[in-house]
Amino acid sequence: MSEQIQKITVTIDGKTVQVDPGTTILNAARQIGGNIVPPAMCYYKPLKGSGGKCRTCLVEVSKGSEKDPRPMPKLVASCSTTVMDGMEVKNISSERVVDARKGVVEFLLINHPLDCPVCDQAGECSLQDLAFEHGADASRYEFKRREFDKIDIGDYIKLHMTRCILCYRCVYTANQLTPNREHGVLKRGDAAEIGTYIENSLDNDFIGNVIDVCPVGALTDKTFRFRSRVWYTKPMDASCSCDKCSGKVVLWMIGNEIARVTARKDQYGEVEDFICNTCRFDKKELSDWNIEGPRKINRHSVISTNHYEQAPPAHTTLLNKA
Ligand code: SF4
Ligand code: FES
Repeated sequence: MSEQIQKITVTIDGKTVQVDPGTTILNAARQIGGNIVPPAMCYYKPLKGSGGKCRTCLVEVSKGSEKDPRPMPKLVASCSTTVMDGMEVKNISSERVVDARKGVVEFLLINHPLDCPVCDQAGECSLQDLAFEHGADASRYEFKRREFDKIDIGDYIKLHMTRCILCYRCVYTANQLTPNREHGVLKRGDAAEIGTYIENSLDNDFIGNVIDVCPVGALTDKTFRFRSRVWYTKPMDASCSCDKCSGKVVLWMIGNEIARVTARKDQYGEVEDFICNTCRFDKKELSDWNIEGPRKINRHSVISTNHYEQAPPAHTTLLNKA
């Protein structure tokens, strides 16, 4: 007989949910859904150990638990704090949180260039969304910003280190999906950067997934760079029988041409099934795919422009949730 798991009750912005023990505040909020879900720039559910790096998901715990109702003195990272029975949490209903999030965005933008007009990630960039919702009009930073040359890492991936927010998602992706450690974060503090040691090419079968997990435009697909703004393309669900991955993808079409192939992402921008490089980079003919139909796009996403198939809104995000 299976043992009954005692559920834990947590209230977030006045909405109550019952979750399994060990659930983080962020995932409890996702079970409620809607605009109370904190944004997450480094946490990525499919990647073990991710989270705790960017602080965008900070929330206020106004009641610790039923047993110990004292509030937590500092804001906590919701992606790495587990819920307690009777816990009460404030996200968008807390002025402290909104103010702190504004500060986090200002920090993230210290070195990140405002090159959205020429960046391939525009329209599907988590930082663009965050800056839209919480960004200040101007930066107070007066020092020299970090500068890096663009680096080709392998045949298909371009690294713009100036855009990187050091979320570590690509490092976890490489560590967890490929047999060899491919790259990592070199140096520390404001000298930290993504590196491959002497710019070794990342040529593993699943390494293309680093492009999909990167929340900003630091890792881009060289086969799609500067081809089109993403909102001018038509996303279609498609599949193929592939012996390396699930073969379930989104084709980003310009007319009848396949401009880009990506994995499918859920409402939080997280990949549902990682795909192999062959599907991503080599299958660019319509005859390679079974087209399932238009991809449902959240109507708040800029990508939904001119699309009739729309997914229900799931998140506060205004520009991006394809
Ligand atoms: S390159 Fe992208 S995914 Fe990798 S650490 Fe930087 S922002 Fe994160
Ligand atoms: S998403 Fe929680 S710290 Fe980055």
